[in-house]
Amino acid sequence: MVADLLIHSLVAAEAKFHQPMASSFWAEWERLDQMAGKHGAVAERKSGLKASSGMKKTAVNAGPIPYLDLPAQMRAIRKDVDAAIARTLDNCTFCLGPDVAQFENDFARFIGAGHCIGFNSGTSALHVALLLLDLGPGDEVVTTPFTFVATSWAISYVGAKPVYVDIEDSTFNLDPRLVERAITPRTRAILPVHLYGHPADLEPLLEISRKQKLPLVEDAAQAHGAKYRGKTVGAFGVMAGFSFYPGKNLGAYGEGGALVTNDAALAAHARALRDHGSTRRYYHDEVGFNYRMEGIQGAVLAAKLRHLAKWTDERRQVAHRYQELLAEAPLQLPGEAEYAESAWHLYVVRHPRRDELKKHLESSGIGCGLHYPLPLHLQKCYSKLGHKPGDFPVAEKAARECLSLPIYPELTEEQVLRITEVVKEFFGEMAISSILRGRKAESLPVSALDFPSQPLRVPDMRGYLD
Ligand SMILES: Cc1ncc(COP(=O)(O)O)c(C=O)c1O
Repeated sequence: MVADLLIHSLVAAEAKFHQPMASSFWAEWERLDQMAGKHGAVAERKSGLKASSGMKKTAVNAGPIPYLDLPAQMRAIRKDVDAAIARTLDNCTFCLGPDVAQFENDFARFIGAGHCIGFNSGTSALHVALLLLDLGPGDEVVTTPFTFVATSWAISYVGAKPVYVDIEDSTFNLDPRLVERAITPRTRAILPVHLYGHPADLEPLLEISRKQKLPLVEDAAQAHGAKYRGKTVGAFGVMAGFSFYPGKNLGAYGEGGALVTNDAALAAHARALRDHGSTRRYYHDEVGFNYRMEGIQGAVLAAKLRHLAKWTDERRQVAHRYQELLAEAPLQLPGEAEYAESAWHLYVVRHPRRDELKKHLESSGIGCGLHYPLPLHLQKCYSKLGHKPGDFPVAEKAARECLSLPIYPELTEEQVLRITEVVKEFFGEMAISSILRGRKAESLPVSALDFPSQPLRVPDMRGYLD
C-alpha cells in the first residue's frame, strides 16, 4: 500500500515538473521509503515497475475518520445508559438526587479522594474551588497560559489576576522551574493543569506550595485517571476540578463537572455553594450558585465510569501505535515523563508546518484539532493584563505547532494505520517538492503535488467537541 502511495507521488511529480529524477532524488526516496515502513517502493521503481493509472490515492481506501467518534461509544454502551437514564426518569430525580450521590461516591473512590461534589460544569467546580480559598480582587494565582480558557475563568470569576508562567516544551504543562520567580506578596494559589491528560510535574510544584504556603488546586479537567508516580491525579492538591464535558475521557450527555478534595470542611462548603448557598432548604447562609449536577448526568456518568479504566487502556494502545508508526516521521510526538501515566485525552503532535499538515489530513477525510491555537496571555479577553507576543515563548511555539490527531478507545487499527500513512504521505510530498526544486523543504508549499482527489468531508461534531 505504501509502495503504491509513494510511487503515485513520484509519477505525479514527474508529470507535473517534466523532469527526470536525479540520483539524489533516489537517495532521498530510499530514506522516505524506509520512513514509510520499508515497503519496497524504491526497489519496485528501480526494477522498472510503472505505476498504473488506476493507482489508489491513499494507502487504505476508507471513509472519513472523525476526530472524535461519540456515536461509536454510544452504540457500545447504549443499553447501560438507557437503563440508567430510565431509572432517573422513573424516579424524577432530575437535580442532584441519588444518582448524583452514587456517582460522587464512585468517582471519589476512583480518584482515591475523600470527597467528590458533582457540579454542572468543570468551570463552576474550579470557580467554587477558588472561592473556597477566599480569593478576591488584588489576589494573584500562578497558572499556565497554555490551556483551555476556563482555567483562567475561575481566577477571573473571583476577581483575582492570572499570573502566567511558561510551560515545559516536552509536556505542555506549567514549568515548575519558573513558578517561584512569579510569586509576589499578592500570590494566593498555584493552579496547574494536567493538559491533554498528562500530569503536571506535581512534586516540585507541591514543594513550592508547602514552602510558600500557597494552596495548589489541580485543573484535572482533561485527566481522569492519569497517574503521577503511580497515584491518580486529583487528590494531590487541596482541591481539584474535573470536567465531564461530552468529549472528555469521562463525558456526560450534557454539561458536568466535579470538585474533588480530601478536606471534609471544604467539601461541605462546596456542597452548599453549588446549591444556592444553603444546607437547609430556603435558608441561605451566604450568596451561592445554581451549580448543581443534573440527575441524568449523574446516572450516565456512574454507568460510564465502569468503563473508564478499559477506555484509558485502549487510548494508551492507540498512543503506542501512533508512536510506533510515526517513529520515523519528522514530527515531535507526545511522550510520557518518567513520573507520568497519561490519560491520553489528546494525542498532540508538533510540526512547524502544522497548518498545512492539518489541511492535508482534512482533505483526506481525517478530522484533527488545535489545542490551542492562541495562548491565554494573547487572548483579547486578557488584553488588560498587558502581555505581548514573546512573553511566553514556549507556549507560543506550542500554539503554532500543535496538532491533535484522533484518539479514542473506538479507533481501529485500520484507522490508525490510515491516519499515520496520510501523515507520512504529507512528508513524502514535502520532501519531493524540496528535492525537485532544490530548496529546503521548510520553505516550500506542501501541495506542490496535487493529487486528483476529491476532499472527503470531515463529520461535523459541534456540540461535543472541546
Ligand atoms: C483544562 C480545562 N479546564 C477547565 C475546563 C472547563 O470544563 P467545562 O467545560 O466542563 O466547564 C476544561 C474543559 O474543556 C478544560 O479542558
